[in-house]
Amino acid sequence: MDNPFYYGRAVDGAAFVNRSEEIGRISSSLERGQSIVLFSPRRYGKTSLIKKTMSRLQRKKVLCFYVDLYTVTSLDEFYKNYAEALAAAFKSPASALVSLLHWLLPMLKPKLVYSQPGIPEVQIEASLTTLRNTKTLKELFESIERYCAKHKRKAAVIFDEFQEIATLEKGGIIERQMRSSFQHHRHVAYAFLGSKMHLMNEMFGTTSRPFYNFGSRFELGAMSDVVWRKDIAAKFKAGGFKIDEQAIKKILHITKGHPYYTQLLCSEIWDTCNTKRAVSEQDIDPVVQGALDLENHAFQELWDSLSRNQRKVVRVLAQETDIALFSSDIARKYYLGAQSSLHRTVEQLLRKGVVAKKDHSYVLTDPFVARWICSRMP
Ligand SMILES: Nc1ncnc2c1ncn2[C@@H]1O[C@H](COP(=O)(O)OP(=O)(O)O)[C@@H](O)[C@H]1O
Ligand SMILES: [Mg+2]
Repeated sequence: MDNPFYYGRAVDGAAFVNRSEEIGRISSSLERGQSIVLFSPRRYGKTSLIKKTMSRLQRKKVLCFYVDLYTVTSLDEFYKNYAEALAAAFKSPASALVSLLHWLLPMLKPKLVYSQPGIPEVQIEASLTTLRNTKTLKELFESIERYCAKHKRKAAVIFDEFQEIATLEKGGIIERQMRSSFQHHRHVAYAFLGSKMHLMNEMFGTTSRPFYNFGSRFELGAMSDVVWRKDIAAKFKAGGFKIDEQAIKKILHITKGHPYYTQLLCSEIWDTCNTKRAVSEQDIDPVVQGALDLENHAFQELWDSLSRNQRKVVRVLAQETDIALFSSDIARKYYLGAQSSLHRTVEQLLRKGVVAKKDHSYVLTDPFVARWICSRMP
């Protein structure tokens, strides 16, 4: 049996664990036309969850469009990704797809090219002036509703890493135009996914922003120990491994149920213990060190991207839990400087998504970053 644990990309099939309650709630919202906002720090499983939800909706004949904004850095890329999401959702033969795209997006003058068989790549022939025209944006945002009204269909449009819109040069215009179009749509529900909690909270929670209070909110957390314990035990058992209950407990204590890190540790444990086909508590620590090595490059890059003040704060949050960050004791103990500059630094870290607010204190969003700092950057 091959290693059943996967990490890195969105997961599906047997690798996808549980989340049945979330799938149920999100799919029924979208099906009845209720838009949603789904947020969590990165690697908690938003993309995996929404892809699963899309499969369920598609079985119910809801048209699903998935627009990934993670890599979008300009307005023309935004158009291209959106148009590609349209092309991907309609499983029509190429000739029908071309005329459909022309009907949907006449101003954009879309063209299809196939650099890989079966996967259409959309090229947009419109001039830069046309792209910058708000009428073109309106055409884009009305296209799916127009199609669904004509064909009496329901649709769900998913924007993954939606907060990236706010970082685009023309982001403000896109956001306003989206809102003014979407609010009138009767056949289409929208799902906005985001990893940078602070930016998402600003976009959906600030009265002056176009998407203020648009859609019901779901916050995706870690998965419960009960769910993980069952899944981990079953997968190791199916592979012929003996695994101690204590070992599973230790894994979950370290990952706190964080989906990515739980899969990462289990996958590495599987490979490390493959010959002896047994896993005990003692096997876990060396694997955790190995996992930190695997992530070292990414953590180092993150660390390098931080200013001196930001590093100070991150280090405090790695070493202490449940502290009053703005207390004079902490400021003195860690030489954090003036309150005003500390507030600024924390604000920058929130924007970067490195730090999140939890209840009344601040935490590092990635549990392994704390572990890495304590062991490699003490
Ligand atoms: N439901 C799940 N079951 C098992 N593993 C999961 C699940 N959701 C996420 N993961 C793990 O987390 C990783 C990141 O998932 P992803 O969906 O890309 O998260 P996000 O979109 O929030 O960044 C996956 O590669 C996988 O290892
Ligand atoms: Mg994602």
